[in-house]
Amino acid sequence: MAGIRHLIIFFLLFDLSIGINIRDQSSQLSERIDCFPESESIFSNYSKDKCLERNCLFDDWVPSDTIQCYLRPNYGYILRENPQQTENGIRLRLQRNQAVGSMFPAPIENIVLDVQHYTNDIIRFRLYDEDNQRYEVPIPLSSASSQVSSAQYEFHHWSDPLRDNILSFSIKRQSNQATLFDTSLGSLILNDQFLQIVTRLQSPHIYGFGENSHDTLKHNVNERKTWGIFARDQGTHWGSNANQYRSHPFYLVMEQTIDSN
Ligand SMILES: *[C@@H]1O[C@H](CO)[C@@H](O)[C@H](O)[C@H]1NC(C)=O
Repeated sequence: MAGIRHLIIFFLLFDLSIGINIRDQSSQLSERIDCFPESESIFSNYSKDKCLERNCLFDDWVPSDTIQCYLRPNYGYILRENPQQTENGIRLRLQRNQAVGSMFPAPIENIVLDVQHYTNDIIRFRLYDEDNQRYEVPIPLSSASSQVSSAQYEFHHWSDPLRDNILSFSIKRQSNQATLFDTSLGSLILNDQFLQIVTRLQSPHIYGFGENSHDTLKHNVNERKTWGIFARDQGTHWGSNANQYRSHPFYLVMEQTIDSN
């Protein structure tokens, strides 16, 4: 019996230490979200002052090829009122965390996050400006299933009290509770001309985001590359990660679970 008790206490301590690491994350290099993704370009005028002008944090003590200029951990959106049940889903009304100045002009202050179980096998989420109509690609979707009896995917959301209650959400596969999409790193940015959402990957085995040149179909996530998602009528440039003729803005992840689907 004593042996079993020790084991349980050990796990609790282990959990606690993970929690503490997460709280300390703003200074952790691997958890930083780049505030100056275009810094490599000679036209970006990247400097410490330009970084601070974006209301971001600057680290003087790391080499310039790592992320020096990064978003504050409380950058994001906060739940404005109680979630509302909708047909086969949930609606969250959010507002931008005013405690942090916007990185770029024209932030969208009020947004709606609509989550819908489209069919048993498809969960769809959509973020949009609550106050102003924006352009949307005029391709009608087939209508959602009226009967979603056993949705395969679960939507979870929570507010982080250590980061001004900014909202994070995740999507899990119901059957094995694997997390497929997880925005807990924060840094949701919705501005008129800059949109960003960040997710942790379930595994490093990621494919997609065409069309661009890369040596292997599988991306090398350690390279920390930027890929353009808009098409551009230009030829293949090996050695550059220029965007090309077509746009395939989706990705596939090979999960490290035996029953993924
Ligand atoms: C960089 O600085 C030059 C010279 O001041 C200016 O013309 C240009 O607009 C700046 N570029 C950006 C992206 O701010």
